[in-house]
Amino acid sequence: MDSQLAWPHAPRWGEQFDVEIIDIDDKGRGIAELALRIGPQLSPRVYHVAVRATVPGDFARVQIGKPRKRKVDAQLLELLRPAPGRVEPPCPHFGPYDRAGRGCGGCSLQPLPYPAQIALKRGQVARWLATAGIGDERIGETVPAASPWTYRNKMEFSFGDDDERRETVGMHPAGYRYEVMDLHHCRLESDAAMVIVAAARAHRLARGLPHHDQRRDTGWLRTLTVREGKRTGERMVEITTSASLEVETSDGPGDPATEAAAFGVALKSAAERAGIRLDSLWWSVHDARRGHRTELHSTHLAGAPHLCEKLEVAGARALSFHIHPRAFFQPNTLQAEVLYGLVLESLGPQGADAHVLDLYCGTGTIGLCLAQRVGRVTGIELSPEAVDNAKANAVRNGITNISFLCGDVATVLEAEGLSRPGAADAVIVDPPRAGLMPAAIACLGALGVERIIYVSCNPEALARDLIGLQAVGYSVDAVTPVDHFPQTAHVETIVQLNRACS
Ligand SMILES: C[S@@+](CC[C@H](N)C(=O)[O-])C[C@H]1O[C@@H](n2cnc3c(N)ncnc32)[C@H](O)[C@@H]1O
Repeated sequence: MDSQLAWPHAPRWGEQFDVEIIDIDDKGRGIAELALRIGPQLSPRVYHVAVRATVPGDFARVQIGKPRKRKVDAQLLELLRPAPGRVEPPCPHFGPYDRAGRGCGGCSLQPLPYPAQIALKRGQVARWLATAGIGDERIGETVPAASPWTYRNKMEFSFGDDDERRETVGMHPAGYRYEVMDLHHCRLESDAAMVIVAAARAHRLARGLPHHDQRRDTGWLRTLTVREGKRTGERMVEITTSASLEVETSDGPGDPATEAAAFGVALKSAAERAGIRLDSLWWSVHDARRGHRTELHSTHLAGAPHLCEKLEVAGARALSFHIHPRAFFQPNTLQAEVLYGLVLESLGPQGADAHVLDLYCGTGTIGLCLAQRVGRVTGIELSPEAVDNAKANAVRNGITNISFLCGDVATVLEAEGLSRPGAADAVIVDPPRAGLMPAAIACLGALGVERIIYVSCNPEALARDLIGLQAVGYSVDAVTPVDHFPQTAHVETIVQLNRACS
């Protein structure tokens, strides 16, 4: 493209441009810069154009979709020159949503060979951290995943229909809220999981069960969740439905509890015929009546009430976890082991009496691995269910030197006197995508520990927080990007901060 195209107006719906993709956004869309000299203006106005199914290095003809201020959505029309080294995406569902069976936005980096994905993620982290004054020399290479495919231990599939009203089980095409594309392959999932999806599709069609229509709030089947213990081989399936009191079936109106139980039996026997064991079956009712708080009521249908999974982290003994349908567990077991191992390594040896805080601890997995190496650990977490889970995980693994407090990190730190100097020796923070609240940064400043390990799933929020943490007396000494979700644009980052010498 002419780098400064003369154009009469801002990009409009339906217009076509030839663009070079130079970056990728957090949704996995390729990003191009469109520099237009509009009307009589001498200097160009730069628009960022987001194009699904493209990767950096692609040169593509695109059609403008919804224009916003300076960020414009566009659809890929033709790949004029593929990025150097671009590979044919192995998944048949990859691509724009231009025909049935395409449009899954799950694995946007598939066209890039794995080493190029790894390099791209380091570049993303480096670009964001440069805005916090952190030079490239402090950023290590991205730690790759041992298995870049079939790594997910949990996937939620939707029941629905596609734009031609065919009944489907699969994923919402990227950018579409209501349509569901039929998914027959998923390279992030095991073959066994896809057998279960196929069995759900067959039973749904045979029984004539309607999916829940979000727009009209009618119908019944909402989602199918398949969980697999990658270390244990156990499987849990959860069918989630609406709260309707009656279900339309091919035999006339049916009772939801009877239909859910029959669905479970059908899945179990189809799995057994394929030599696949289902260890735990659940039915959950998503009750979203207008004027009420949305609730999820879960009924155990068959097998064990939980899924058992293990974590084998270098430098810690193996731990076992009971995962209930509502419990959070890192979706990539094997790479969570790598991530946690790096956290322990970055924290370094701590004294036998050391007190370490595990902030935003979720179900306590990091703190439980760490507890074996230090005097004591205190985990803080907002979700009461996660805290209950964390406590049960400690008991199950016989770990007694860890305690969990429920509430907002900054509020609990202050209320429990944990933001005073000397209250802890080191801190691990693993906040949600939004990053740390200013009050949490202030507490960490007041606490003044020797070392903080920051685990981040969002380099943009990380960069902002590192500016704040440097301002309250810490220096950033080492940054390690970790590829937790290969084939996607997500990157985890581990940052080692030390108390700055004054
Ligand atoms: C990225 S997850 C951490 C998961 C955990 N460290 C692990 O590895 O499994 C972030 C956690 O922070 C919790 N959280 C979000 N806001 C919080 C707050 N203000 N105070 C405490 N915890 C919070 C969420 O409930 C979630 O469990």
